Amino acid sequence: MGRLPKIPGAKEIVRTGGALLIHGDCMEMLPHLVDRYDAIISDPPYGIGYNPSSPSGSKWKNVKRIVGDAEPFDPTPLLGHVKTVVLFGANNYANRLPNSRRWFVWDKRPSMKSMSFSDCELAWCSTDGPARMIRVVWSGANRGDERGQHWHPTQKPIEVMRQIIEATTKPGDTILDPYMGSGTTGIAALRTGRKFVGIEIERRWFNAAVVRVRRGTTT
Ligand SMILES: C[S@@+](CC[C@H](N)C(=O)[O-])C[C@H]1O[C@@H](n2cnc3c(N)ncnc32)[C@H](O)[C@@H]1O
Repeated sequence: MGRLPKIPGAKEIVRTGGALLIHGDCMEMLPHLVDRYDAIISDPPYGIGYNPSSPSGSKWKNVKRIVGDAEPFDPTPLLGHVKTVVLFGANNYANRLPNSRRWFVWDKRPSMKSMSFSDCELAWCSTDGPARMIRVVWSGANRGDERGQHWHPTQKPIEVMRQIIEATTKPGDTILDPYMGSGTTGIAALRTGRKFVGIEIERRWFNAAVVRVRRGTTT
């Protein structure tokens, strides 16, 4: 294994397989990562002030906030470095993004009745192409083959990230997720033959990402 790169602002760097996992603030590190990735695929804080501890029966009693989620999200620092950028939650900050007809619509409650949570989530894509629907059930304990795998309050299904990665990048590409949370994008990237660079500011979620990406396969 080669030496770990020096990245100013990184509190810890873990290399595992084809992934580089970095603990720290992506805003400090992005300028030092230019030319090290081919695409950004990310699920940033949306700027909606979500409190994971608030729904009744929440598993996240001690998690009052997602870092960065209290203020409007500005995607500008992520744009203009690589052609392919995919951003979840972009319906919350679309006014700060260029127009695109290519959105991924993740239908997370197919054929189920609406509840207080959203029926779907939207990801904006910088490259041109038809809008696509991804149908993966994700509601309460109903999580398909990820049942019981609650690592992060706003965790995405690996299958959703896999479909987006396969639609927008090619094998061998390096994907950057500057807001990696528990590392879901990284797992999907490695499973599809891509390389991965992930950054997470919160120690708790960084540690979760290290465990999950190391395991890499089923969770
Ligand atoms: C929506 S969550 C991502 C969840 C992820 N998709 C998953 O499946 O686990 C966004 C993450 O960005 C992290 N974050 C917020 N601001 C950050 C920053 N400046 N640098 C790095 N990570 C940050 C938060 O701590 C949070 O874990």
